[in-house]
Amino acid sequence: MIRKAVIPAAGLGTRFLPATKALPKEMLPIIDTPTIQYVVQEAVDSGIEDILIISGKGKRAMEDHFDRNFELEARLEEKEDERWYNEVRRLADMANIHFVRQKEMNGLGDAIYYARFHTGNEPFAVLLGDTVINSVIPVTQQLIDIYEQYRGTVIAVEEVPHDKVSRYGVVGGRKLSDTLMELSTLVEKPAVDKAPSNLAIAGRYILTPQIYEAIEHTPPGKNKEIQLTDAFLYLLKRENIYSHTIEGKRYDIGNKLDFLKTNVEFALRRKEFAAPFAAFLKEIVRELEAREAGK
Ligand code: UTP
Repeated sequence: MIRKAVIPAAGLGTRFLPATKALPKEMLPIIDTPTIQYVVQEAVDSGIEDILIISGKGKRAMEDHFDRNFELEARLEEKEDERWYNEVRRLADMANIHFVRQKEMNGLGDAIYYARFHTGNEPFAVLLGDTVINSVIPVTQQLIDIYEQYRGTVIAVEEVPHDKVSRYGVVGGRKLSDTLMELSTLVEKPAVDKAPSNLAIAGRYILTPQIYEAIEHTPPGKNKEIQLTDAFLYLLKRENIYSHTIEGKRYDIGNKLDFLKTNVEFALRRKEFAAPFAAFLKEIVRELEAREAGK
């Protein structure tokens, strides 16, 4: 059984400067909800109640977000704003959320290594704090279901266009079903003609305690950071690793363009914004088309 989740959220977010100079990128809101809240919700919706967030310098806002705020609660009570009072209380009670600070930003592999005392001898889920996945069945639940059957490391992947593979970590191996693969290789940002597939690592994993030994044996790689993909290569020589092609759509808010697109798509899905926002977008498209026609 998977009882614990680890959410790495300590990264510097250099691709999102200047916003991330003092604000954790995981707190950037998709409309009105911090990204990390969607991530915690996915873990909770997958039956996980114990969550460890890997935090770091300048990331206190995440702790405050999942804590009580008595002054705000009192004000909302006074205003008889039951909806927001309940929501603010719910955030502090969503799960048992713990924090540990990554002392130096030495990469995702290093961030996960900080979870070793918390997860001990148990398998656990990992959800990247800057990645939201919209799906009917929560993706972490999809991975747990596979873990229960195969008892090995499971990596969520998504299909990406062949010509875009060099932006991602890409997996290759033997197909066990339409969505499941037993891996024989993982490559970080491969050249288009060298990629073993068009399946890109999607920011959700089930890891076994063996990952810690693998991280210990992984020297710093790209950007002098301990790369989780490199640790998987060590692990692959010793045990099976599976990939699951997710049913869902992934949004990486760590880069500005994807963040903008994410906000547009989520706004169109929100009842109170869908109609007026769609009208606004259509107006913009009309203006763009008119401008192009006038050229
Ligand atoms: P990224 O590589 O996207 O985060 O890591 P980053 O390093 O903050 O990004 P840029 O390139 O500088 O913009 C994916 C997730 O892993 C966490 C990040 O916080 C993010 O949620 N992470 C990354 C850590 O917790 N520690 C690290 O050392 C690196």
